[in-house]
Amino acid sequence: MAAGLLEQGEDAFRRLFKYYKRRRPPPDFSTVLDFSRAEKNLKVQIAPLNAASVNDKDACKAGLQPVSKWKAYTLAGYPGFMFISDPFLPGWQCYWAKQCLKTYPRKPNVCNLDLHMSPEETKDLWEQSREQLRLKTPGKREAKSLLEKLRWVTLGYHYNWETKKYSPDHYTTFPVDLAYLSEQVAAACGFHQFKAEAGILNYYHFDSSLGIHVDESEMDYSKPLLSISFGQSAVFLLGGRKRQDPPLPMYMHSGDIMIMSGSSRLLYHAVPRIVPNLEGGRLPSCLEHTTTSNNQHSDEGDWEACAKYLETSRVNMTVRQVLEVGQSFPVESDSEKRRRHPAVLLSSRLLREDK
Ligand code: SIN
Repeated sequence: MAAGLLEQGEDAFRRLFKYYKRRRPPPDFSTVLDFSRAEKNLKVQIAPLNAASVNDKDACKAGLQPVSKWKAYTLAGYPGFMFISDPFLPGWQCYWAKQCLKTYPRKPNVCNLDLHMSPEETKDLWEQSREQLRLKTPGKREAKSLLEKLRWVTLGYHYNWETKKYSPDHYTTFPVDLAYLSEQVAAACGFHQFKAEAGILNYYHFDSSLGIHVDESEMDYSKPLLSISFGQSAVFLLGGRKRQDPPLPMYMHSGDIMIMSGSSRLLYHAVPRIVPNLEGGRLPSCLEHTTTSNNQHSDEGDWEACAKYLETSRVNMTVRQVLEVGQSFPVESDSEKRRRHPAVLLSSRLLREDK
């Protein structure tokens, strides 16, 4: 595809980012790597997983298939990068997607809407959006619910978009279920002592993108960064250590998990484009909701609202370990503390959204 775009040169990443973001004429997606159909791609190799390190019962508790059944891949030229093609048990993606929409945006977690609204007003975005979402008519222009205005949520050590740091006194309990899921995935990939300490959830619609960046705020790079997606698909660009390195475009579909560790932990990456799932239905089949698949969905109305949201959206959770065992935070200056105000956080975040 577009060979000229792949040539080495100044900021090859930005050029490819703009190419995939472009609407008219639309980009050629035919060379975007699709791990779910990648068996014959020369760059793609089967990843060695540590099936014995997560027993089937523990995997099942997190909603995961036995590790022996996972399809996991590495990429030649990207040591430390791993891709797991939807390892979830049937029905469980619905559970996790609902957590992202209903539970994790609740206080005391922090979100972009905190800039414009009081904690009282953002206390339960789900309750304020559920009926509006459930009753939406696909394709019709209607007022946006609060949940559709949600762009990001932070968990655990809350990321400071301005200073690009975490701090010990801006911490709330990390969700126990997500920590458990992350620890099982990390262990299967050979990271046994992984501690989920910070999370950033990104909420995307078909017109959203996430700018070019490197996740380098954590203090222990030896630990992996986990990235888990639900809903519609994304074109994800994985670059090199320099902006001049042309990135590799790949799809992330619902349920897919990416692990960035080792030297791939500090690679440039971005999401230029959200695309409808490639199966062609409103929702990918892995998000079909069957009440018998587990008992987490007692409230059908909740799922109806989640499904409506996911028909036009994608949610991504990244989970990080911030500190090495026994390590503590450096002392924060007064100006860094001041820069923790939500207004400052949001304006910095908006800058990152569309670089
Ligand atoms: C991120 O890099 O922070 C998120 C990437 C994604 O949405 O896949």
